[in-house]
Amino acid sequence: MTIWQKHSPTFEYEKLEPRILQHSAWVGHRHFCYDFIRQHEPNVAVELGTHWGASFFSMCQAVKDAALPTSCYAVDTWVGDAHSGQYGNEVYDQVSSLASSLYPNVSHLLRTTFDEALGQFANGSIDLLHIDGFHQYEAVKHDYESWLPKLAPHGVIWFHDISIHAYGFGVWKLWQELKEQYPSLQFEHSGGLGILFPKGINQHYHVLEKHWAEIKQGYES
Ligand SMILES: C[S@@+](CC[C@H](N)C(=O)[O-])C[C@H]1O[C@@H](n2cnc3c(N)ncnc32)[C@H](O)[C@@H]1O
Repeated sequence: MTIWQKHSPTFEYEKLEPRILQHSAWVGHRHFCYDFIRQHEPNVAVELGTHWGASFFSMCQAVKDAALPTSCYAVDTWVGDAHSGQYGNEVYDQVSSLASSLYPNVSHLLRTTFDEALGQFANGSIDLLHIDGFHQYEAVKHDYESWLPKLAPHGVIWFHDISIHAYGFGVWKLWQELKEQYPSLQFEHSGGLGILFPKGINQHYHVLEKHWAEIKQGYES
């Protein structure tokens, strides 16, 4: 693997449930997400904060299309928070229905708090961790610090909304701190996506880093 490959996927979920894209600020990252999963081929991917599933189902689509052995876990209470707003059972019911109909061998939904889910993962077992829960500084810092031990050597963490400096969001602040300490890459569009390598870099990082300006432009345009 020496180059970054872009695909032209069909995201099956969008035809069945248009609200997934309507309600998500994550939409602008789903093609990168898809290509990243196919390039990295993680064994275990965990998402903290799924809501309607724009990011989660984009991961699952890549795993399904490439027939990867990846297990994708979505952790969410599916009741909402002060930034996403509170919502009813209809969201979980629809996410659960789509997960079992479209991605039955790939997706695992854990309807619980992030803290309660920690015990279900061994230390060093997660290859890709996506942190997209409550965006207040103390909350996202807690999510990062409590889940970091679960990350595998050379594992990657994504942070959504690193570009938002309003609404009481504080991911940007944590991101400023972390990118000073560890190798990282970032998108600014669609709320911003930070890509952190806090447990060492590998050949995937080298490919991304070497071609980052070109890769980044390809997803932002
Ligand atoms: C920003 S939304 C996730 C957006 C989603 N990744 C997407 O692609 O559209 C945040 C979600 O995190 C969940 N959440 C926030 N804090 C949580 C916690 N401590 N435990 C479990 N779920 C939490 C909320 O219920 C909400 O659905």
